[in-house]
Amino acid sequence: MKQLLNVLYVLVFFSACTTKTNEKDQFDTIGYIAGKFENTLQAQSDSTKIPRTIDENGNLKTVGIYNWTSGFFAGNLWYMYELTKDDKWKTEAVKWTEALDTIQYWSGNHDVGFMMYCSYGNGLKFGGLNQYKPVLIQTAESLSKRYHHNTKTIESWDYRKAWDGKTEWFYPVIIDNMMNLELLFEASILSGNNKYRDIAVQHAETTMKNHYRADYSCYHVVDYDTITGAVLDKATCQGFSDSSAWARGQAWGLYGYVLCYRYTQDEKFLDFAENIAAYMLNHKNLPEDMIPLWDYNVNDEGFIPEWNYDASDYPEIPRDASAAAITAAALYELSTYSTKKQVYLDAANKMVNSLLSPNYLAIQGNNKYFILNHSVGSIPHGAEIDVPLVYADYYLLEAMYRKSKIEDSEGL
Ligand code: GLY
Repeated sequence: MKQLLNVLYVLVFFSACTTKTNEKDQFDTIGYIAGKFENTLQAQSDSTKIPRTIDENGNLKTVGIYNWTSGFFAGNLWYMYELTKDDKWKTEAVKWTEALDTIQYWSGNHDVGFMMYCSYGNGLKFGGLNQYKPVLIQTAESLSKRYHHNTKTIESWDYRKAWDGKTEWFYPVIIDNMMNLELLFEASILSGNNKYRDIAVQHAETTMKNHYRADYSCYHVVDYDTITGAVLDKATCQGFSDSSAWARGQAWGLYGYVLCYRYTQDEKFLDFAENIAAYMLNHKNLPEDMIPLWDYNVNDEGFIPEWNYDASDYPEIPRDASAAAITAAALYELSTYSTKKQVYLDAANKMVNSLLSPNYLAIQGNNKYFILNHSVGSIPHGAEIDVPLVYADYYLLEAMYRKSKIEDSEGL
């Protein structure tokens, strides 16, 4: 933790704010982050209206408890508590966590891992709140209802149609689902019931087989036949084209296989994660500052969007700070398992340094509520393009926490 505070205080100098570089001019990152969250708490005290982004005028936009991003704000407050040990953050974290109580019984889609692990999971880890254990176990039970023994996967979404409006997805599984496995692994430890862990391992193995290409990039969506278990379709929903590498999807996959190794110590998951990392870090389109384009293959020859795309709408290809933050958090953990430790540390540090620079921090402009600018929700949907997003902040905080733990030689 000692290192974390150092990192927070001295990581960035702001020539944008001042030309002097004496100690007083160092940017107070922790103060900056605290200020953002204080603004947010002042603007919204109803914990069922959960901060997600801002509108074009800088007004806070919120979501309800069933939205996939409902757990991140509570998670940010838990990180703030861990960072400062100031009880005021714990009080708020508990309030925003417990607003999600009913989600433990909900099986409406796969996102409960995001919702409940980032909130209740961090409440258990950082707040020591043992009463959250049964909530996490019940959430795992609800999620496991979406597992099908023929597909050997957890269903992400209910039936829906693809971009062409014709292709039907009967049992769509998206790469993002790898992030829910942490809840399942943890619930097995908490409950002593291996069912959740077995589901997680099966899901991860099936996803290795069906979502990934020879170069270790992945499809966003794979649709299954629940009678035969056969793959019916491989496509995108939020990426550039069916065969492209949507940046956040690659990050979810990397993070997911790193955590599978954490819980199983199975070398095949570690090898897989290292191959995914190599795909991302060696990609010809990865910019110098290592904050990826929103899709690694935007405008690349041979990649044809399924949706209505006009390149002239995007004179500059939007970056996705959220993908960078997730990738950095995953790379820090990967560095603790791999013989290529320094490669991953260097890459993660570079990503975090870029995010904590004036290019991505919301120091100026109309973003009063979030740490970072320049994330992308879904360009094909025309939604949340080049905006702050609560989950970019969450994974940035997690990356900073992991960096500090590694520098302090403490376990993650
Ligand atoms: N899990 C939804 C997204 O990454 O946009």
